[in-house]
Amino acid sequence: MRTIDLRSDTVTLPTEEMLSSILEARLGDDVSREDPTVNELEQLAAEKFGTEAALFTPSGTQSNLISVMVHCRRGDEMLVDSEAHIYYYEAGGMSAVAGVIPRLIKGKMGVFTGEQVVGAIRGKDLHFPPSTLVEIENTHNRAGGTVWKPREVAGVSKVAREHGMKVHIDGARIFNAAVALGVEVKEYARSADSISFCLSKGLAAPVGSVLVGSGEFIGKARRMRKLLGGGMRQAGVIAAPGIVALTKMVDRLAEDHRNAKKLARGLRGLGTLGIDLRTVQTNIVLADVSPMGLESSEFIAKAKRKGVLAADFGGSTVRFVTHYGITDEDIEETITRIGSMS
Ligand SMILES: Cc1ncc(COP(=O)(O)O)c(C=O)c1O
Repeated sequence: MRTIDLRSDTVTLPTEEMLSSILEARLGDDVSREDPTVNELEQLAAEKFGTEAALFTPSGTQSNLISVMVHCRRGDEMLVDSEAHIYYYEAGGMSAVAGVIPRLIKGKMGVFTGEQVVGAIRGKDLHFPPSTLVEIENTHNRAGGTVWKPREVAGVSKVAREHGMKVHIDGARIFNAAVALGVEVKEYARSADSISFCLSKGLAAPVGSVLVGSGEFIGKARRMRKLLGGGMRQAGVIAAPGIVALTKMVDRLAEDHRNAKKLARGLRGLGTLGIDLRTVQTNIVLADVSPMGLESSEFIAKAKRKGVLAADFGGSTVRFVTHYGITDEDIEETITRIGSMS
């Protein structure tokens, strides 16, 4: 029985072209900015986002942390959605390393508004930490891969800028958002001071993320990357697949989105899982397994015995993610196997 792995789009394996690109990559010492392949990837990313510069980093977690460290001083406060990845899954780095306190905003399906930002900003008072950064997650993982529209980002950004705050987008899956809406990622970059995106998720590269922003921001970010131990030497071996990811793997995300919708409708049709189809906007499907009388961990163990892997989102919520390597037939097979779970 073939295992269908829907735990995450991080399980994607590199394409043949990515593997060949590694062998052909021209290399140098990237800490001295002498790796032509890394330079090419950074230039390509900056062009795509219409920013002055870009920086290749080992992970999305490090890109986000670098951004917080550049935008904030220790003791500052950042406004962030209460279910955001940076708050939930990044080991508390924003506080442990950057010394920044999170102030939580409750978004609707991961999206919050300028009014909510205004409501959360503290006035200038000796007692309060300065609110200096707003973080937006697009697409929003824990909300089910939900998409921020460029005008929603612009609304938050306008308010943030009026209050002298910076805006960072955790765009680990920002290309999913852009493909879902049929817009260019540039439309998001106009409203942000920095964006981090992952090459290693739906774009299927084995390693790495990229930060984009102004020349000044990236200059500071490069120093912070070094401070965090993220300066890499012949990093072209991992940047080369990243170039393939950016040039060849973006448009096909639409296929993952179609598969996610098909999976969501199919699973919902079984009548034993709670699925809010409004949240199925990209490649993530969240399912409430409580109608089956199960906790998420029990459901996951049972599904595994049927050869279907899903991720535990706590309580009775399970996450399925479609990605490169998951076919139309896999989706049909998943629905059949889960339908046969007693
Ligand atoms: C929304 C979001 N941001 C950031 C990250 C962190 O990326 P990485 O695993 O490369 O550190 C992830 C990873 O799953 C994510 O889903």
